[in-house]
Amino acid sequence: MQMDPDKVRKLQQMGLGPVWQRRGQSSGESGGGSAAIALPASESPEEAAYAASVMSMDWAMLEENIRGCGRCGLCQGRTHAVPGVGDRKARWLFVGEGPGRQEDSQGEPFVGPAGKLLDNMLRALALARGANTYIANIVKCRPVGADGRDRPPTADEVAACMPYLARQVDLIRPDVIVALGKTAAVSLLGLPADTSLASLRDKIHHYADLPLIVTYHPAYLLRQPADKAKSWRDLCLAKSLLNGR
Ligand code: URA
Repeated sequence: MQMDPDKVRKLQQMGLGPVWQRRGQSSGESGGGSAAIALPASESPEEAAYAASVMSMDWAMLEENIRGCGRCGLCQGRTHAVPGVGDRKARWLFVGEGPGRQEDSQGEPFVGPAGKLLDNMLRALALARGANTYIANIVKCRPVGADGRDRPPTADEVAACMPYLARQVDLIRPDVIVALGKTAAVSLLGLPADTSLASLRDKIHHYADLPLIVTYHPAYLLRQPADKAKSWRDLCLAKSLLNGR
């Protein structure tokens, strides 16, 4: 059912975006699963048109577009764009913030120290990189500060990149999404940047119609290993959602 445009506008004014439309109403039908959606509400007609075109891409075209993307300044410093890696029919989708130096140089997400911890977390869940899991990031190119260090992506960089992740979600249609860290969580849930991660844990959220669990970013857990137990609880909550699905 088409959402009442007035209601959509009000939700957006209240900062309760993104607003989702069912696939097939305004985007192409190729690829993806059968049930729902995922087209982020966009700010301009051009952005909406681009987001709609991304929603009709197959995997090959999507990855080609990501690798050749010039929609924000991050493309200028990249060695490789990092579309994502894994099982395209995965039940688990893990979403991080953005590539770091090693990911930029290798073109694969989570290959540095945080990635080693993520691999251990997967193993604890009886998963492995590429086996029933897909790993992606909010932004596909490395955000790097003037000091040469990794930094979080800006809101504009996130907005420019989100259509790609929306399409990845729509193609994979995982049974659960795990948002790793605050950037992933607030970007996927359309929340203010100052939302605390603590306030998002221990709850079942949704991205479009798919359940989403928030946990700590592995890089944070490397600095605060005492919080690994909490993260394990989050992953167990995510796993519990798969039972019976
Ligand atoms: N941190 C992330 O959020 N993503 C990566 O791919 C690597 C580190």
